[in-house]
Amino acid sequence: MDDIRNYVKERYAQAIKNKSSCCGSGGCCCGTTGASGIPSMTRGNYDGATLEKTPEQMADQSFGCGNPFTEARIHPGETVLDLGSGAGLDLFLASEMTGPYGKVIGLDMTDEMLATAAENLKGIENVSLVKGYIEEMPVESNSVDVIISNCVINLSPDKGKVLKEAFRVLRPGGRFCVSDTVFLRPVTERAVKNLAAWSGCISGALRETEYAEKMREEGFEEVEVRRTKVYSFPDAMAAMAFPELSGEERNEINGSLASAIIMGKKPL
Ligand SMILES: C[S@@+](CC[C@H](N)C(=O)[O-])C[C@H]1O[C@@H](n2cnc3c(N)ncnc32)[C@H](O)[C@@H]1O
Repeated sequence: MDDIRNYVKERYAQAIKNKSSCCGSGGCCCGTTGASGIPSMTRGNYDGATLEKTPEQMADQSFGCGNPFTEARIHPGETVLDLGSGAGLDLFLASEMTGPYGKVIGLDMTDEMLATAAENLKGIENVSLVKGYIEEMPVESNSVDVIISNCVINLSPDKGKVLKEAFRVLRPGGRFCVSDTVFLRPVTERAVKNLAAWSGCISGALRETEYAEKMREEGFEEVEVRRTKVYSFPDAMAAMAFPELSGEERNEINGSLASAIIMGKKPL
């Protein structure tokens, strides 16, 4: 597990130094080859009004693949935990939603990401940054109202452990509402490798059905996996994005991967 985490850590340390440096080389989410028409994982996730109130550099430093707030319905005064909080865009947005009586915790394992978030969030008092792993959260049990996350759990070598920890730290009635990548059907290893090279982020993505099953196994109720973006690669685009694949293999990839919001609740 440590090998994978160290690899991911290095890639994200590099990525935040030079936002797109790891695109196409595996290890961090990017999702664009530059070919027009191919959907991007990191772009277009937030509406104009949200971006308008967000410091520009934070939006540019976002490596998410969706917007967990569309379903999270965060209320003033709540405690929010962001798993793999990166440079802090979602922490910034959550801090506004929870307000002065709320609390927002950003958990990340990468020093460079934590340092960038600290700089970006200077002066915002209801946010605290914590260094640690999402598989062993340094967070008190039954203390969190809402867990959010954006394109992080797919990177974990032990997703069962992450979900177990998420369940532990949520208070009874607490909500889990994360954006992540999921496979919509089984794909060959070659397809997974090519998609990972394209996006840098999906090699560990679960099937959507498997995600829901694992959530239920840990005790979550009201589990739902709602697709938000299905990554389609029409013929000409697929040829550009995956030049070494056959037509049949490109067909296999087309529409096999999606961003989704994964939701669940810890029973009361
Ligand atoms: C794809 S980026 C997403 C960052 C942020 N959520 C966003 O939307 O921009 C993944 C982040 O998760 C962190 N991360 C990945 N695996 C982790 C783990 N096992 N424990 C803690 N943090 C992790 C990385 O350091 C990185 O900051």
